[in-house]
Amino acid sequence: MKLFLLATLASVPVHAATIAMEDQSQLQPVARSTAAAQFQPPQESELPDNAYGKLVKQGYALFVDTKRLAPQFVGNGLNCSNCHLDQGRLANSAPLWGAYPMYPAYRKKNDKVNTFAERLQGCFQFSMNGGTPPAADSPEITALSVYAYWLSSKAPLGVDLPGRGYPDVPTPAKGYDLAQGAEVYKGQCAVCHGAEGQGQKVGDSYVMPPLWGKDSYNWGAGMHRINTAASFIKHNMPLGKGGSLSDQQAWDVAAYVNRHERPQDPRLVEGSVEKTRLKFHANDGINLYGQTVDGVLIGQGIR
Ligand code: HEC
Ligand code: HEC
Repeated sequence: MKLFLLATLASVPVHAATIAMEDQSQLQPVARSTAAAQFQPPQESELPDNAYGKLVKQGYALFVDTKRLAPQFVGNGLNCSNCHLDQGRLANSAPLWGAYPMYPAYRKKNDKVNTFAERLQGCFQFSMNGGTPPAADSPEITALSVYAYWLSSKAPLGVDLPGRGYPDVPTPAKGYDLAQGAEVYKGQCAVCHGAEGQGQKVGDSYVMPPLWGKDSYNWGAGMHRINTAASFIKHNMPLGKGGSLSDQQAWDVAAYVNRHERPQDPRLVEGSVEKTRLKFHANDGINLYGQTVDGVLIGQGIR
């Protein structure tokens, strides 16, 4: 574990045994063959023209346009679909059809069995930096749940389908390298996400989402883990060229992205980054929260 504190080293070794995913036990190692036939969610043309179909459409709209349609629950510049690509349909991009049939499920993150509504509330609180999330019986959670249910039509219940989540990318033998990550970022990411990770806006809305800074996911979000970001990036980025980075490049650039400041972890313990690191980050995968890089304490938060 000590090795993680030496984040200033060119290369930071990462030991597989120290990775403790916060996620529910059902996610744990099922060999996922990407070659296996993927589950196919229904097409919009199959939606019935009734009250149910209307609610599905509302959930879809909220999922892709979250910031604009539910501003009171979004504290950054993101939409759900920024991390769950293709409207929550894309395999290996934590698709909703992979998630919905797997709840209720135990999550280490809050040490209890979470309903699907509670799982959605978690994404509002952390990924969307939204403060108090919408109530479980709110119109927002209801519409999003109905949308996820519809995408899961004919999916088996409680089966970990191929394409669920962001499949793990093996930890590179030499760990990750922040300097190499900066190079990958400059060469393959900055064109869309901006040299300072700030994204790109047209009017008030982001057309390219920010990767760090005040409008990005907060320090409590799953994406702040380098291993999770590496998995997302490897399968989905650069946009339209998923799978083109090597595992090493994915880890390096994930570490580079996640060494940058973002909104504070809302679970902050007694105002202390160190206490928060011990309670919530020390055993949450690979992350830099509360560590020192180039003499700077990471995880101080930004508004
Ligand atoms: C910054 C990226 C990001 C944003 C934005 C985001 N999520 Fe997530 N979401 C994640 C990550 C990371 C996970 C964890 C996946 C894992 O560990 O494999 C996740 C998991 C989930 C899951 C559970 C997936 C499963 O298979 O168990 C659901 C459901 C979900 N998100 C819904 C949403 C909704 C709804 C929104 C918008 C309110 C949203 N997410 C916004 C990154 C994001
Ligand atoms: C061609 C433009 C483009 C390039 C190049 C690109 N991205 Fe993205 N990226 C996007 C878009 C657009 C989204 C949101 C996807 C959506 O909403 O459908 C996104 C989403 C993301 C997200 C999740 C959302 C967020 O803001 O946190 C991360 C993380 C990310 N990209 C990292 C990277 C990294 C790392 C690279 C370089 C290896 C990269 N991207 C290259 C366009 C791009």
